Amino acid sequence: MIKISPSVLTADFLTLENDIKKLEDAGVDMLHLDVMDGEFVPNISFGNPIIKSIKAHTRLPLDVHLMIDRPHRYIDEFAKYADIISFHYEAGSDNAATLKRIRELGVMSAIVIKPCTEPECVFDLLPLCDMVLVMSVEPGFGGQKFMPQALAKLSALRDECNRRGLDMLIEVDGGINAETAPLAVKAGANVLVAGNYIFSADDMAARVKEIKSI
Ligand code: DX5
Ligand code: ZN
Repeated sequence: MIKISPSVLTADFLTLENDIKKLEDAGVDMLHLDVMDGEFVPNISFGNPIIKSIKAHTRLPLDVHLMIDRPHRYIDEFAKYADIISFHYEAGSDNAATLKRIRELGVMSAIVIKPCTEPECVFDLLPLCDMVLVMSVEPGFGGQKFMPQALAKLSALRDECNRRGLDMLIEVDGGINAETAPLAVKAGANVLVAGNYIFSADDMAARVKEIKSI
């Protein structure tokens, strides 16, 4: 079963409560929240106070994607409201220790790879992960074009998980729309992040339905 995790990065935050209700009614599985620090990526988004407010207004699981330097410093803070915490392989933490800490706090753990990182880099971390996230754009901004190189990475990760007998969530993030979603699913993704494609639509529910029907 494919899960949809809409990214609120390009949403209007003053009407977000209403949009979240629409997404709930449309049957999305979780909400993808992109935290950016202006260091790890050249953009600043929002932090835990916004996530706390969102948590108070939805029962959807919160899929928190940390694009921050040395994320281990903030895991305990984000674990207060997150259901899944993903952080970057490249961000300068002890990745195994950080994954273990996330699970210790009762939150699902996930590692993310940028377009420049090979999937083999995270193979040894897979037993510590509940999810792996493959970036299909350079992290930092919504509305970019899907990079097809992500497809081979998704396949390599799915094959390795199968080889190890791991029933893994494999998420893909960046440029997902009606054309790219089926390719990502075919390659092995079972969680699709979609930001611009959903939030730029007049009828968000129709877009969710379209992606869900894959
Ligand atoms: C990019 C973020 C994405 C982004 C996806 O750095 O991690 O989650 O919001 O947006 P779209 O779907 O518009 O590419
Ligand atoms: Zn993201």
